[in-house]
Amino acid sequence: MAENQTRTNDRFTLIDERDGKRYQRPLLHGTLGPPAIDIRNFYGEAGVLTYDPGFTSTASCKSAITFIDGEEGVLLYRGYPIQELATQSDYMEVCYLLLYGELPSPEEKAEFVNDIKRHTLIHDQLMHFFRGFTRAAHPMAIMVGVVGALSAFYHEDTDIYDPEQRMLAAYRIIAKMPTIGAYAYRYTIGRPFVYPRNDFSYAENLLYMTFSVPSEEYRPDPVLVRALDRILILHADHEQNASTSTVRLAGSSGANPFACISAGIASLWGPAHGGANEAVLKMLMEIGDKRRIPEYIARAKDKNDPFRLMGFGHRVYKNYDPRAAIMRETCYEVLEALGHEDDPLLELAMELEKVALQDEYFIERKLYPNVDFYTGIVLRAMGFPTRMFTVLFAIGRTVGWVAHWKEMISDPESKIGRPRQLYVGAPQRPFVPMEKRPAPGHRTWSRFWGGGEK
Ligand code: SDX
Repeated sequence: MAENQTRTNDRFTLIDERDGKRYQRPLLHGTLGPPAIDIRNFYGEAGVLTYDPGFTSTASCKSAITFIDGEEGVLLYRGYPIQELATQSDYMEVCYLLLYGELPSPEEKAEFVNDIKRHTLIHDQLMHFFRGFTRAAHPMAIMVGVVGALSAFYHEDTDIYDPEQRMLAAYRIIAKMPTIGAYAYRYTIGRPFVYPRNDFSYAENLLYMTFSVPSEEYRPDPVLVRALDRILILHADHEQNASTSTVRLAGSSGANPFACISAGIASLWGPAHGGANEAVLKMLMEIGDKRRIPEYIARAKDKNDPFRLMGFGHRVYKNYDPRAAIMRETCYEVLEALGHEDDPLLELAMELEKVALQDEYFIERKLYPNVDFYTGIVLRAMGFPTRMFTVLFAIGRTVGWVAHWKEMISDPESKIGRPRQLYVGAPQRPFVPMEKRPAPGHRTWSRFWGGGEK
């Protein structure tokens, strides 16, 4: 709409058909994307709630960080297209952009990179937390625990209502995630931790702390460094996804930011969200051969089969996820650089994508590959075990989580998140003394595991 064009009747009117009452609500317009009906205090006025499980049609907040146009497959970080950032910028610059809202000058970037480097070490006592886990622990379980534990180390000097201390908390968590992620992996394989190196870039350090062997000189391959940096850029933010909304909701109570990021990690771990990259690799390994693709496509379409095509579909994108397209190109680059250009998994993934995108079921539901479909193939080729894939997603997404946390805390309209519900339980009823209760058929579950604590 042209700026000078006034919006006439820029509102919605809801009519309660039970008594004919009309409730007018203004439309809120953002810079881009659909407007929103302002239903704040609608319950107070109309005495009814709105029902939207999964928030398919609900704007939970205003945000200036990331914009997604799902129909067109557009993704902008602070207005800059993801394709241009992934090919012309680097992850540190994107972190600065997401935190400050503008691209840095050369001096600002140099200072930011140097500041982040100064926070990559973790407290020596925090190292002991890893030892509490079994060696078989999933690295994401370790991430949830150790990142949450940071709230014990940064509690007194984290006044979240002081902008300086909010930014310091942001720097600290962005800087420490690669260290914690690399240590989570090394602990599970019994390899000693190595300290971050201040002469390495962010992605270089992550590869170094993950794969280096003590007593050997290790300099990560520049092609892998560039690919990992790009992967981190692609995962940096994605507006109000499940894990970011988790961080916002946890933070809305005034909780410690490190504890909020730990909650975001927990949410990301799910296979419907960030855990999908690990699930895609397992799915491709299970399919194994192009000849079995029709069998798995049929299973994905079968409502009686819980199997879904992992790495496919998205709540917002009803077009090709722009990150998936960039990931596919990165796949080629990395596999070619490593001499694995004929990686059978990539061929299988490409064939699976081709078959699915020609199938009416996927076309009708606008199910396209998402960011997770190709990521696992690249990460596996780089030497990461599948259990580390979501850890890398979490490392990349940390800047998005903390940028949204900062935006939420400083938003004057922000309130503690407290949704309502449609209650479908028992109506009020009087207590029944034990002797008058019917003998049910053993509702308790303990008989399944032989009673007592599992
Ligand atoms: C991420 O939100 C974000 O931005 C997330 C993310 C980010 O950067 O933060 O982009 C990262 O989480 C990407 C998504 C990774 N997850 C997967 O790849 C798991 C597989 N995908 C699905 O589980 C699913 O597509 C979701 C969870 C991603 C989206 O689910 P929705 O929006 O709730 O959609 P839905 O389950 O209502 O599906 C609509 C229809 C259903 O069929 P019908 O009931 O209409 O007949 O599409 C079907 C679904 O059964 N469907 C699939 C499918 N995804 C949806 N059928 C087979 N395979 C699939 N992958």
